[in-house]
Amino acid sequence: MLLENDPNKDNLDKINSEIELCQRCSLGSLCTNHVPGEGNPEANLLFIGEAPGRNEDINGKPFCGKAGRIFDELLEASGYRRKDIYVANILKCRPPQNRNPKPEEIRLCTPYLVRQLKVIQPKIICCLGNFAVDFIMRKFNLSEKVQSIGKIHGKIFIPPKIKSLKIVPLYHPASATYNPNMINILKNDFRMLKNIPV
Ligand code: URA
Repeated sequence: MLLENDPNKDNLDKINSEIELCQRCSLGSLCTNHVPGEGNPEANLLFIGEAPGRNEDINGKPFCGKAGRIFDELLEASGYRRKDIYVANILKCRPPQNRNPKPEEIRLCTPYLVRQLKVIQPKIICCLGNFAVDFIMRKFNLSEKVQSIGKIHGKIFIPPKIKSLKIVPLYHPASATYNPNMINILKNDFRMLKNIPV
């Protein structure tokens, strides 16, 4: 088992309903909609982004705006379909003007993500961008392997105590909107996902 599940039989509906009411930090009252995550509750492959953007905030769904269109194009290269995977974020609410998540917001919000991971038990966790890479690699005792995303993107990391799990750092899809060269790098990394056994 990837992470011990809670004895009180947690489940995704319960977690996601709690997220929708969350006021643990100020983002809870600033957002239009909380964005718990979406996808197959039995997914082998789970993606973690940074935080909802404007469209995600309006729709309550992850990766449905500009970055979402790039994500869908990349996912096609991976051979996976949205219905096969689960998509979550480090923060469940949009930070104003899409600013970076604050450490305190990450501390207060990530217990939800950890509960989602315990219930879904994915075999592969793909971390989209630095915030997800940093949180997940530290969580799974891979702190000493954390380097800049330029050095570790597309590599597979296996947590020391959980040999059945693979963690894959990837550039954030939004990086392709600032730098058109990124799309090819991202596509190469996503193509590699279809060859990782689950
Ligand atoms: N960027 C993210 O990191 N997550 C989303 O859901 C949308 C954009």
